[in-house]
Amino acid sequence: MAKRAETIYLKDYTAPAFWVDSVDLHFELGEEQTRVASRLALRRRPDSPSGALVLDGDKLELEQILLDGRPLAANEYLLDDESLTVLAVPESFVLETTVVIRPQDNTALEGLYRSGNIFCTQCEAEGFRKITYFFDRPDVMSRFTTTIVADKQSYPVLLSNGNCIDRQDLGDGRHSATWQDPFAKPCYLFALVSGDLGCVEDRFTTCSGREVALEIYVEKHNLDKCAHAMHALKKAMRWDEETYGLEYDLDIYMIVAVDDFNMGAMENKGLNIFNSKYVLARPETATDADFQAIEGVIAHEYFHNWTGNRVTCRDWFQLSLKEGLTVFRDQHFSSDQVSRAVKRIEDVCVLRTHQFAEDTGPLAHAVRPEHYQEINNFYTVTVYNKGAELVRMLQTILGPDTFIRGVRRYLQHHDGQAATVEDFLMALREAGNLDLQQFQRWYSQAGTPQVSITSQYLAAEQALEITFEQFCPATPGQANKQPLHIPCKIGMLDTGGQPLTLQLSGDEAGTGTEEMVLHLRQDKETLRFINLPEPPVLSLFRQFSAPIRFVGEESSQTLAFLLKHDSDSFNRWDAGQRLAERIILNGANQSSRETAANDLDLLAASFASILQDDSLDKGLAAKLLELPNELYLALQMQEVDVEGIHTGREQVRKHLAVNLRELFRAVFNASQSTGDYSVEPEAVGRRSLKNRCLWYLDALDTEESSQLVADSYRSATNMTDRIAALMLSVDNSGALGQELLGDFYRRAENDPLVLDKWFAVQARSSKPETLASIKNLLSHSSYQPQNPNRVRALIGTFSRANPLRFHVSDGSGYALLAEQIIALDPVNPQLAGYLAGGFSAWRRYDEGRRKAMQQQLQRIVSLPKLSRDLSEVVTKMLE
Ligand code: ARG
Ligand code: ZN
Repeated sequence: MAKRAETIYLKDYTAPAFWVDSVDLHFELGEEQTRVASRLALRRRPDSPSGALVLDGDKLELEQILLDGRPLAANEYLLDDESLTVLAVPESFVLETTVVIRPQDNTALEGLYRSGNIFCTQCEAEGFRKITYFFDRPDVMSRFTTTIVADKQSYPVLLSNGNCIDRQDLGDGRHSATWQDPFAKPCYLFALVSGDLGCVEDRFTTCSGREVALEIYVEKHNLDKCAHAMHALKKAMRWDEETYGLEYDLDIYMIVAVDDFNMGAMENKGLNIFNSKYVLARPETATDADFQAIEGVIAHEYFHNWTGNRVTCRDWFQLSLKEGLTVFRDQHFSSDQVSRAVKRIEDVCVLRTHQFAEDTGPLAHAVRPEHYQEINNFYTVTVYNKGAELVRMLQTILGPDTFIRGVRRYLQHHDGQAATVEDFLMALREAGNLDLQQFQRWYSQAGTPQVSITSQYLAAEQALEITFEQFCPATPGQANKQPLHIPCKIGMLDTGGQPLTLQLSGDEAGTGTEEMVLHLRQDKETLRFINLPEPPVLSLFRQFSAPIRFVGEESSQTLAFLLKHDSDSFNRWDAGQRLAERIILNGANQSSRETAANDLDLLAASFASILQDDSLDKGLAAKLLELPNELYLALQMQEVDVEGIHTGREQVRKHLAVNLRELFRAVFNASQSTGDYSVEPEAVGRRSLKNRCLWYLDALDTEESSQLVADSYRSATNMTDRIAALMLSVDNSGALGQELLGDFYRRAENDPLVLDKWFAVQARSSKPETLASIKNLLSHSSYQPQNPNRVRALIGTFSRANPLRFHVSDGSGYALLAEQIIALDPVNPQLAGYLAGGFSAWRRYDEGRRKAMQQQLQRIVSLPKLSRDLSEVVTKMLE
């Protein structure tokens, strides 16, 4: 199946041989097949060698081919499953082709496909070649005009990029619409949608006074779930004007929600296509986290209009140029809407749990990888989230104002072009007059750097010397690493918890700030701070100023002290996490049990004061009271102790619950919602604190606590509270879980997004019968193996968010995952490749589990037919 199992290298990049000045597409959408006629105006680039014209085309049925109006004879062109070659072409010419495709059979959800009764497209990264012959690469940018013809009754809505310039009733029951996109774009930004959709309309007036029509298209029964998305869109549009001075550039902005989608959403020019999960929400169907994710993804796709569309990527190795930057922008936007502290903690948590994991395994790669087989495998947390952290470090290094000027400069200089990471760094460098030479290594060097810190207080000199040592472990293909430019935001506290003024030796005239950024550049370096009459408490890497693992020398008392006093909310949280981690991991170890017990008292005392602190932001309080998750804990161990981590964490939870039960109960009661549901940060924070308390109280496992969970579920007026209680009941012994699951299913009323939650809750259960119940669910009438959201809810959740049951020692969890991957690969390779990632940490487990996972990987790799997506990840995992 995989013909092109070869590797593509960044160093092999060559510019395209032709320009495509214009593209005219004509689609006839039919129930059995779709006919695509294309007219390309081509011009050979002056400096490119003469030679054949080679266009990408993935399993297209060619019906007709004309060069400057003349049909080509069979010996004038070559066809195979991946390309069309026209042997001799003039300097400038028109190529017309007509092909037949079958969207109805397209289960891979790439190219033109059907989601229910809707025709839609997904072209990034290389889906356009499944629609027509073209240069399917981002550095070929052209002007598109698209005509869609379809049955009028079944497909009243006909959409493509740009502005609608013509509509026709064709008289025979069909109608047509013609769209023209005035901006040249690469074909991965092409989109087409057609179906019987409802539309929510609004308007936006840009900063220069232009009127933009905003339209969200959804299936009609979902029209009442679009208000939040529309609101988010308008906020994002305003924010980009106010923060970056970037204005929208077309007269219309459309968003379409479809149920079958491989990823989150897609930034097609003027016509975004979304996974319905990131559009549809009502308080009864979506949680606070869902509401926030919608706001974030809507903003993300909107921001791509500049960072991605107006300036795109030269090649797919530069993917983080648009994704890292755009994630950075959406995180910044969201943190302006919600509690800034909580948002930062959440973003770092994703990075440290998932990206750090990627870095330790066989799939580790640089933010800008040097080679790939299947680009779809590189839409990763490294490219997206670590990429965003690199941009964040650049902001820290340049300062916020210079940073914004640099980004604007980059967009101005490369408007309408396909750019590289170097172009971006050059613009920032010019704006800031700064050397970013060493910083650039962050883009090519994979792995999580470790920074170890030792400090020495010199009483006689009233000085503190801090030694920073950086080290980056080897990753596949990169044995030796070079030192990086690491910005470290630092503060110091006196013994009373008050901030100290920082003064570096040699900088006697220093401005005397309470926080500064240190620029670490060497393998090992020592910095000396002066004018410190007593030994200070260090607060390092504030706001997580660099994506590194930091190894400090703090005592548990110091961590508790920082948890209480640090003015940096992120470091408060991190201190608590490190203390809790120490307790949980030591608790699993016989010899350090005693230390763990003392530390536990320390943690309980800290939590007590958090619970009693009325002035604290409730969302932040909920975060401070959170225990590190099992996946993150697993990363801290040489060899993962699956059961030890789970039991250790549960014991800490229970200990805290028993010791602080009155406080948890009081805060739970005080955090009951009043009035109408709102997604304002205050209300969200209150619910998260309430449900955090409930999580602890539930650990008491008493008649009373289980009654509390039942009451919480039954009195819930929104999905956040309902699902929180449902999750607890499902993990508990007793019949309540089953009863509530039945109720939840009935309430779901066939709403696919709510059904996903019903599946996910069961897949996440820590009960021993989880595996058996997943097997049953696979044949449940509501299970849809062709729907990516459903597969991710059941199989993805089980394999990635339920380590205790996925890693059950007899290997049955692994067998289940492998079977699902094998069944899915011919249907949807991208999804199969993603699911296979569930095995990527296999080398970090004990021998039994290691062997069992290896065996499943070998079973997959030995299959006769494997997609390129799956074969690349599985092969790399076994290397
Ligand atoms: N560019 C999209 C985004 O905004 C993601 C598209 C991913 N598509 C894919 N086939 N991997 O993040
Ligand atoms: Zn994106």
